[in-house]
Amino acid sequence: MKKPWAGRFTEKTSKIVEQYTESVSFDKRLWKYDIEGSIAHAKMLSKQSIISKKDADKIIKGLKEIYREIEEGKFRFRQEFEDIHMNIEAALMEKIGEIGGRLHTARSRNDQVALDLRLYLREEVREIIDLLKNIEKTLVDMAEKNLNVIMPGYTHLQRAQPVLLAHHLMAYAHMFDRDRMRVEDCLKRINILPLGSCALAGTTLPINRRYVAELLKFDAVSENSMDSVSDRDFALEFLSCSAIFMVHISRVAEELILWSSEEFSFIELPDAFTTGSSIMPQKKNPDVAELMRGKTGRVYGNLMSLLIIMKGLPLAYNRDMQEDKEPVFDTVDTVKLTLNALIQMLPKVKFNIKRLKDTADAAFSTATDIAEYLVRKGVPFRTAHEITGKIVRHCIENKKRLSDLAISEYKSFSALFGQDIYNFIGITESVNAKKSYGSTSPEMVKEQIKSLKKRLR
Ligand code: ARG
Repeated sequence: MKKPWAGRFTEKTSKIVEQYTESVSFDKRLWKYDIEGSIAHAKMLSKQSIISKKDADKIIKGLKEIYREIEEGKFRFRQEFEDIHMNIEAALMEKIGEIGGRLHTARSRNDQVALDLRLYLREEVREIIDLLKNIEKTLVDMAEKNLNVIMPGYTHLQRAQPVLLAHHLMAYAHMFDRDRMRVEDCLKRINILPLGSCALAGTTLPINRRYVAELLKFDAVSENSMDSVSDRDFALEFLSCSAIFMVHISRVAEELILWSSEEFSFIELPDAFTTGSSIMPQKKNPDVAELMRGKTGRVYGNLMSLLIIMKGLPLAYNRDMQEDKEPVFDTVDTVKLTLNALIQMLPKVKFNIKRLKDTADAAFSTATDIAEYLVRKGVPFRTAHEITGKIVRHCIENKKRLSDLAISEYKSFSALFGQDIYNFIGITESVNAKKSYGSTSPEMVKEQIKSLKKRLR
C-alpha cells in the first residue's frame, strides 16, 4: 500500500529510512488517544459541514472497529506506515475506502501528535497525582501512629537534637505534598487543545476548535498554531516534576537503606521487600530501596534528553520532536512502579522504638536546650553557647551524661543554674518544650498533621 504522503515522490522509501524514521514501535502506546481524537475531529468536521454526516458516521464506525481490533490484539502495526497516526489512517482506508481520506481534513500529524501526547499525559498524570496523595496519606498515617516516638534528628549525619519520629515522617509528607501540587499545576498546562493548529498555520476551512475541546474535555484551546505544534513544555514540566519527586523518593530510599543497616538498626524492612544474597546466607538486602534510588537516575536522564532535544529547534514542528516519546513513556512507567512500590513498602517498615530513643538520648543531644535555658535567664546566646560547650567537655572528660551532673557542678559553670535545669535535659522534656511554629513538639506536629490532612481532603 502507498504511503499517505507518497504523491510527490517517484522513488520508493529505502528500507533503512523506514527503520530509521519509524516510531510506531513505541508510539503505538498512543492508539487509544489517537482514535479518541480522530472521532472528535470527525464529529466536528461533520457539525461544520466540512464533511457529510454520512461520511463522518462511516469514519467513526471504522475507527471504533479499529479500536476493538487493537484492544483484542488483532491489529497489525506496520513499520512502513511510520507511526501510530498513519497506521490507523491506513487501516481506516482499507476498511472504508476513499471516504477514510476525509478524516485528515484540516489536520496534520503535527497537531495530531501533540494532541495524542496531551491526552495520554493527562490520564497518566491524574493517576500519578492519586499515587502521590496516597504516599502522603501513608506518611501521615505512620506519623499518627508514632506520635510519641523520639529519635535523634541529624545534621551532617551527626546526631543533633532529639525529634519526634512523626516529625521526621511528616517532613517527607510535606515534600510529597509540594510534589502533588506541582504535578496538579502542570496538569493545567497539559490540558489545552492543540488540534486545529494543523501543520503550523491553521486552515482555510471553517473548523470549530472549541467544539473539539468540549468533546475531549479540554479546559482551553491553544492560542497560537505555531506554538501549539512545536511546544513540548507540558512534557518537560511533567518530566521535571517527576525528577523533583524522585529526589524525594531517593532520599526516603537512602534513609531506609541506612536505617536498616546493622550500624543504625533503626528499622526492619519487610521480608517481602528485601532480597537475599546468592553467596552470603545471612544477608537481607534493601534492593527495592536501592533501585528506587537508582531509578531516580534514569528519570533525571529522561528530563535531560528532552531538554536537549528541544534546545535550539527553529519553529515550528521538527522531526527531532518524535524523540520526545520514549523519555516520557519511560518516566511514566518508572515513576508509577516506584510510587506503587513505596506505597506498599512504607507501612510495613518496623521501627525499633527502643533503639531510636536510646540513640536520641546519647551524645549530649539536649545541649542546645541548656544554652536556651541560660538565654531565658538573660545570658546572651553566644555566651550561653560557650558555657554549655564547656559543660559538654567536662562531661566527656569525666565520662558523665548531662543528667549525671550535680547541681553544684552546673553552678560551677554559671550561678544562674537552678534545680529546674533537670526539667530541660531529658529528651522527652526537650521535645515537649519546643514552642515555635513548625517545631518538633507533639503539639506542633499534631498541628501540621491536621493542616496537611485538610489539604488532602
Ligand atoms: N511521528 C511523528 C512524531 O512523533 C508525528 C508527526 C510527524 N510529522 C511530520 N511532519 N513528519 O513527531
